[in-house]
Amino acid sequence: MPKPINVNSYGKPQNFLKSIKRLFSYIKVHLKFVIIAIILAILGTVCTLVGPNLLSEITDIVTDGTNYAQIYNETEFKQNFNSGLYELIISQDSSNEYYDEATESFLIPIIVDGEEIVTSFKLEENGSIYVTYNSLAKVNLVKITKIAVTLIILYSLGVVFNYMQGFIMSGVSQQISKKLRTDITKKINKLPLNYFDTTSYGDTLSIITNDVDTINQTFNSSVSNLVSAIILFFGSLSLMFVHNYIMAFSAIGAVFIGFLLMMLIMKKSQKYFLLQQENLGNLNGVVEESYSGHDIISVYNAEKEFDKKFDDVNKLLYVSNWKSQFISGIMNPIMAFMGNFGYVVVCVVGAVLLINNFPGVSVGTITAFMIYIRFFTQPLSQIAQAMTNIQSAAAGSERVFDFLDQSEMDDESDIKLAINDVKGNVEFDNVYFGYNQDKMIIKDFNLSVKAGQKIAIVGSTGAGKTTIVNLLMRFYEITKGKIKIDGIETNKITRDNVHRLFGMVLQDTWLFEGSIKENLIFNTENVTDEQIVNACKACGIDYFIRTLPNGYNTILDDNTSISAGQKQLLTIARAMIQNSPMLILDEATSSVDTRSEEYIQKAMDKLTKSRTSFIIAHRLSTIKNADLIIYMKDGTIAESGKHNELLRKNGAYAELYNSQFQS
Ligand SMILES: Nc1ncnc2c1ncn2[C@@H]1O[C@H](COP(=O)(O)OP(=O)(O)O)[C@@H](O)[C@H]1O
Ligand SMILES: [Mg+2]
Repeated sequence: MPKPINVNSYGKPQNFLKSIKRLFSYIKVHLKFVIIAIILAILGTVCTLVGPNLLSEITDIVTDGTNYAQIYNETEFKQNFNSGLYELIISQDSSNEYYDEATESFLIPIIVDGEEIVTSFKLEENGSIYVTYNSLAKVNLVKITKIAVTLIILYSLGVVFNYMQGFIMSGVSQQISKKLRTDITKKINKLPLNYFDTTSYGDTLSIITNDVDTINQTFNSSVSNLVSAIILFFGSLSLMFVHNYIMAFSAIGAVFIGFLLMMLIMKKSQKYFLLQQENLGNLNGVVEESYSGHDIISVYNAEKEFDKKFDDVNKLLYVSNWKSQFISGIMNPIMAFMGNFGYVVVCVVGAVLLINNFPGVSVGTITAFMIYIRFFTQPLSQIAQAMTNIQSAAAGSERVFDFLDQSEMDDESDIKLAINDVKGNVEFDNVYFGYNQDKMIIKDFNLSVKAGQKIAIVGSTGAGKTTIVNLLMRFYEITKGKIKIDGIETNKITRDNVHRLFGMVLQDTWLFEGSIKENLIFNTENVTDEQIVNACKACGIDYFIRTLPNGYNTILDDNTSISAGQKQLLTIARAMIQNSPMLILDEATSSVDTRSEEYIQKAMDKLTKSRTSFIIAHRLSTIKNADLIIYMKDGTIAESGKHNELLRKNGAYAELYNSQFQS
């Protein structure tokens, strides 16, 4: 049966808001913690944002304290200092004790803010006076220390807030994925087999692993990242405007130009990234094909062709990889350029404003802007990243919820009726069934089986033999009619109850990773070693098991090489150990040789004795002694009766039997 691959696997969500809303119902329980984490993220970001302000203050104190120069005309000077000092400087008296020959200026200590600062007064040619507060002056270290300590405290708090935020969020996201995984696993047990017929296993597996993981990752990082990025972005933006709107506009302009450049390159490289993904997929396909089909490729001498196929795809992948890597390699330098370009713009504009005495602009302002511009550009890529992550999480949750929304088998919790001591009368009454409602596979199927009878079902492939068994086991619900066990309809008791009544051996053997003994016991309780050995002896597999390195304790895994036939014998032995009141064997002996089959035949005769059993077999010699043989064709019984009766009838069964007899 071809299973459709979910094409929308990793694409965009079809209904973003709906999936996010649904996801929110999982967050609700942890909402308190999420809010705390978001508040912590906000606090942490605010701590970071305040930093540049304080750094700006430090810079100003340092520049104020060192060289600071200003030009005064006569009236300004007289206002700021006094006329006596003005007269002295105008006099240019070289004999004055404060006159400095080398610089042709007066070096006079004056008191500023209670501190003595050596200040140079120099007469310019146009009559104004150039005043330089000299570098001998003291920087206000006390003030700086205070600010520095505040900064350290703020930054430390920022680290603590961010750590706590991360700690809480990772806890919450693990809780959410745990809940999702639990829900999915519970769901799997409630799904009708029908679901698995129409969905590939890989798809379902990928929901449990990849999709849940994507959701987890997004919660873990993106949510709080997004919050801090947005705050950092708008915070730095508004703080820039608070400091100086001209510089703010130039900074935004610079970033905008850089951003345009980046978008341009992104657009160009996108094509190659897509190609890269596609080629990678193709390469995987070829590798998988040649790996899984290794035998066939060797048998048909197709190695050369596969080599060529691989080479072609490999070459394509190389080219697209190379190009996308080249372009993304350019990305980092450009990003760096963008940041530096912003610095330059802010510095130049700031310097121009500073020289023109623009109110409120100081060296400290420029320092602050250089940091703000980084705070401003950095969140842009973070926001973009977080948005993509959230989008894939939405796509992932859409798939998860789609799965969780699949219609389930009917709830059976209020079913009280149970069959415990079964006699084994089975009745099919007018049964109709189709895997799809528009195509009936089983049509008007009627069969009455008495307790202890051995029923053989034969017929060509696709006649509906396995389907009958599936219906008997209630793996699928019948469309019309009734199936009764001991007179009770099977849909009036629980599925578990039905399953408990039957032992089943199928053509597809199912063994799990574990010791042989564990595989044999599987779900049966109170099994003694003696019972196990007896069952294996009956199936003729005891000797083989003893030759294995650890006997019954040998671990079965991918490395244990046992043949298909041996696997089948193990599952038959398992059914014997299970000792259920009724038995179903669906082509159970199709992959064992005729000698082993004889063994099993004997074992099976013991097994089926006084047990109602349904045996589907291809080799008719094995079912000759059945109480009733039914020959199926297109979902109905074409012929039925005992072996000899059917042979005498000389119909389809006789023809099939004779054809096997001749070969
Ligand atoms: N899981 C399924 N979903 C849809 N159709 C199915 C499924 N299993 C079997 N069929 C179809 O039902 C018909 C009977 O199949 P089956 O009972 O397995 O035949 P048999 O066991 O006699 O070889 C076939 O035409 C087959 O294609
Ligand atoms: Mg079959």
